[in-house]
Amino acid sequence: MDLNKPQKISVCGFNGSGKTQLVKYLIKNYSGKVFVYDYHNEYKDLPDNVITYVPKYKYDETKIVEEYNLILKKFFINSKLIKVLVVDESNAYNPNMKPLPFASQDLNDNQMHYNQTIIHITRRMTDINTKLIELAHKRIFFKLFGKNDLQYLDALKKGLADAVFNLEQYHFAILDEFGNVTICEPIAL
Ligand SMILES: Nc1ncnc2c1ncn2[C@@H]1O[C@H](COP(=O)(O)OP(=O)(O)OP(=O)(O)O)[C@@H](O)[C@H]1O
Ligand SMILES: [Mg+2]
Repeated sequence: MDLNKPQKISVCGFNGSGKTQLVKYLIKNYSGKVFVYDYHNEYKDLPDNVITYVPKYKYDETKIVEEYNLILKKFFINSKLIKVLVVDESNAYNPNMKPLPFASQDLNDNQMHYNQTIIHITRRMTDINTKLIELAHKRIFFKLFGKNDLQYLDALKKGLADAVFNLEQYHFAILDEFGNVTICEPIAL
């Protein structure tokens, strides 16, 4: 997977399935500047090309979104310097059934013009705004087993639910924008 190509990526999978490790691996192997919206303050010991921001607000819904919009607008959107954004625990800012915050909407619509790559990470794909799944170029799935998630997977591509349900530990499936599925071995930590 090449972060040099501007694209939208979503990463889903249950607790401890390997999402954060995979994204850390991708950004370690990328030489440009990366901005991480780091909910858990867990993006540490990374090379100098990675800038992290730990959000101040976690419980007040209005403030959470205000801060998210403000920080992304100030430091990332249409930046000539920083080309990759990682939003871990993206469902905290982009929950399902709510309008996307303007920063996410802007990036989802315009990342190609801005020449930027956006990576959203969430556990359950049903927790996050569906636009971030359906309009992504690459959907990466670690093991999922919730009934709603499996139904959603099969709606995206017939047979995908079985493939994702049966993934072994740290294995993942990639669904690309053309509907092709690739099953991948775990990254070497
Ligand atoms: N490819 C791998 N090979 C070996 N161990 C791994 C691999 N990926 C993850 N792990 C182990 O699993 C742990 C959890 O991984 P990680 O933090 O990436 O999960 P996560 O999907 O981000 O979980 P959460 O939903 O809680 O954020 C890691 O600390 C690591 O010990
Ligand atoms: Mg994680």
